[in-house]
Amino acid sequence: MKGVVLAGGLGTRLYPLTRVTNKHLLPVYNKPMIYYPIQTLVDAGITDIMIVTGGNHAGEFLKLLGNGKEFGLRHINYTYQEGEGGIAQALSLAEFFADGDSICVILGDNLLEKSIRTSSVGFQKQRQGARILLKQVPDPGRFGVAQLDGSRVIGIEEKPKVPKSNYAVTGVYFYDAEVFEIIRTLKPSGRGELEITDVNNAYIARGTMAYDILEGWWTDAGTFESLLRANQLVAQHRVSAATNSAES
Ligand code: G1P
Repeated sequence: MKGVVLAGGLGTRLYPLTRVTNKHLLPVYNKPMIYYPIQTLVDAGITDIMIVTGGNHAGEFLKLLGNGKEFGLRHINYTYQEGEGGIAQALSLAEFFADGDSICVILGDNLLEKSIRTSSVGFQKQRQGARILLKQVPDPGRFGVAQLDGSRVIGIEEKPKVPKSNYAVTGVYFYDAEVFEIIRTLKPSGRGELEITDVNNAYIARGTMAYDILEGWWTDAGTFESLLRANQLVAQHRVSAATNSAES
């Protein structure tokens, strides 16, 4: 399985912080934001990675990450998204890289406490379709929201005014190679973007979508509040990890 980190967009919700840099290069405690999703992939054993970036500061990713030595990688692939076509459009740029393989996609502003290895193994056993990770949140209306029926997810709504559950769809997605065919069938949403939620709903319609509930904390970092929360969560996590190792 290959890994794709989506790190494009203009990050307008964080203006003026993102006027002269890319959102995913902003600091989260002691590291640039994009380090966290890359590490999540590497920790799950996914080491063939492509970064999809865009906007005006794409060159900085190469300077920052190089060939991925800090993550124990020998090579990182890069591609460039022109314009603001949305998450699914950014993902479509990874088709050549995926080359028929299945992929784990992670949004560059998503931080997770725990490993996604179990979900990765679950997806590999699944053999086809897609797998998403859900997390109960107090503010589901900010996210894609999953409607569940027992062990099945029966629909996802993007930022609904009246959420049908409090299960947010996190920015970690496992897809088989069909995903690129699905993206080709999508129409731009009201905000003029190809939505990842439409991709997921296509898999639900085909009956090949599975899900896991994510363990540990999860946050995005694309707004002032969530960026602050991401910093706090990482800082606390480091303090508690240091305390635990001092006690043991
Ligand atoms: C995107 C997705 C949304 C998902 C979220 C996770 O939202 O569209 O479905 O729940 O990422 O971070 P955005 O960050 O573009 O608002």
